[in-house]
Amino acid sequence: MSSQLAEKIRELKAERNAVILAHNYQPGEVQDIADFTGDSLALSVRAAQTDADVIVFCGVRFMAETAAILSPGKIVLLPDKNAGCPLADMITAGQLKDLKQKHTGAVVVCYVNSSAEVKAESDYCCTSSNAVEIVESLPRDVEIIFVPDQHLGQFVSERTGRKMILWPGYCITHAAITEDDIKNARAAHPDAIVMAHPECTEPVKVLSDQILSTGQMLKFARQSEAKKFIVATETGIIHTLKKENPGKEFFAASSRAVCPNMKRITLEKVLWSLEDMHYKITVPEEIRTRAKNALDRMVAVLPAK
Ligand code: 13P
Repeated sequence: MSSQLAEKIRELKAERNAVILAHNYQPGEVQDIADFTGDSLALSVRAAQTDADVIVFCGVRFMAETAAILSPGKIVLLPDKNAGCPLADMITAGQLKDLKQKHTGAVVVCYVNSSAEVKAESDYCCTSSNAVEIVESLPRDVEIIFVPDQHLGQFVSERTGRKMILWPGYCITHAAITEDDIKNARAAHPDAIVMAHPECTEPVKVLSDQILSTGQMLKFARQSEAKKFIVATETGIIHTLKKENPGKEFFAASSRAVCPNMKRITLEKVLWSLEDMHYKITVPEEIRTRAKNALDRMVAVLPAK
């Protein structure tokens, strides 16, 4: 059944001159039919570069919005219109404007997990793979506002030695991974390396060996001599980790770390989105051009590893 679906998707994709981009947290079968899978930064770069007419974005709304901001001439489709991001919804443009008024002259860095309106109010956008480099590139004497993820912000602050004004947002899926989960996983697999995403809480990160974005986790696992890994992020990435590393073992730090929004996308919905050309994601031009400035600065700064 799923191979028939995949075949139909491939046919329609060619007819529409479409490209399918999928985030590393997508269900395995969706990652498998994608033309390109990656982390938030790699997907943004790819969305900006593609010469397809249509981008089917298998991820959540802010990712499709990012593609629409970077590729205004293209049709960007999100296969499920309700695939949102609770973290992105934790700050509005109005709240950010209020914060900027309290700290006039501060540089605003927003995590890519944010709405187009919040990006439009920001100076720089970043992802978990280049946030450290972006903050490091800022002059030492400026105040920095970092929104909306407090845990990524805390990690960047620690790595760069820069004090930042943090917004108290967080990812509900990463917050589900607890210290006990890491301790129990380590007890069960004492010789495993623990890889944690910077969206995890600080106590979880303190207990981990490597703090990495999803793209960095894939690279690290490929290059490492280790044979066992505990993965403290959304469990969808384990599909590709296993596929790319047949001789290695990967264990989810917590089976609760499943993003309900990422899992809204299914093969059926990808097919329907190509058949009906829905759900089109657009950004008003005035917001788009301002948000693009912040994104252009992000895409220009590549991560060190
Ligand atoms: P990265 O893919 O950039 O590591 O980000 C993960 C994430 O939380 C997306 O919502």
